[in-house]
Amino acid sequence: MDKIEQTERWVKDKLVNETTGHDWYHIVRVTNIAKEIAEQEGANLFIVTMAALLHDVADDKIVDDETAALQEIVDWLHTIEVSEEAIHHIMEIIQTISFKGGTGKKVQTLEAQVVQDADRLDALGAIGIARTFQYSGAKGQAIYDPTIQPRTNMTLAQYRNEKSSAINHFYEKLLLLKETMNTVEGKRIATQRHHFMEQFLAQFFEEWGMKQE
Ligand code: ADP
Ligand code: NI
Repeated sequence: MDKIEQTERWVKDKLVNETTGHDWYHIVRVTNIAKEIAEQEGANLFIVTMAALLHDVADDKIVDDETAALQEIVDWLHTIEVSEEAIHHIMEIIQTISFKGGTGKKVQTLEAQVVQDADRLDALGAIGIARTFQYSGAKGQAIYDPTIQPRTNMTLAQYRNEKSSAINHFYEKLLLLKETMNTVEGKRIATQRHHFMEQFLAQFFEEWGMKQE
């Protein structure tokens, strides 16, 4: 087994029972699309694949102790004998790509841009819609609550902890992602998926009996 296959197994074991939208198949989809974009952009395929596989293992929504989880990843990469330079790059990617309510840092390298685009694409389109409702259900949020306005300029704590709704999440994050894409291919796919979400929202508000603002 090569390093990538070993890492696939290691991550799958950890995320197989995850039910807040970061399950193993999210990782599979992100890794596949990241590899496609990496080929088009001429990015380092090993770094992109490894970072995509590992990008959610230390996510603050999944683990209680993010620092310990990050150290566990470093230890894993040492175990399978990844070079120090590659470990540094992979860890840098994992720690900078998250959206975090718009509070995240800007990514530094082409490989980070590719993995960030791939992760963001999985928040869009039909799958993005499904994940939003799964996450909302897991957090006990309503499908929609017309008395709660979508938030702008929130802190990470507000983004994570304040009550919102699944539909508000489209306005707080999903519809903003298209403009944040780094790569040409990422932007192309995001544009299609964005359009599909707009159609979904139009239909949703029509059924609700509201004109969309
Ligand atoms: P982030 O990068 O903002 O931490 P993730 O991509 O890790 O978010 O979130 C996992 C999934 O859950 C995504 O599909 C995302 O759109 C969705 N999600 C995140 N926060 C919320 C929320 N407050 N309400 C509904 N869905 C959410
Ligand atoms: Ni992810």
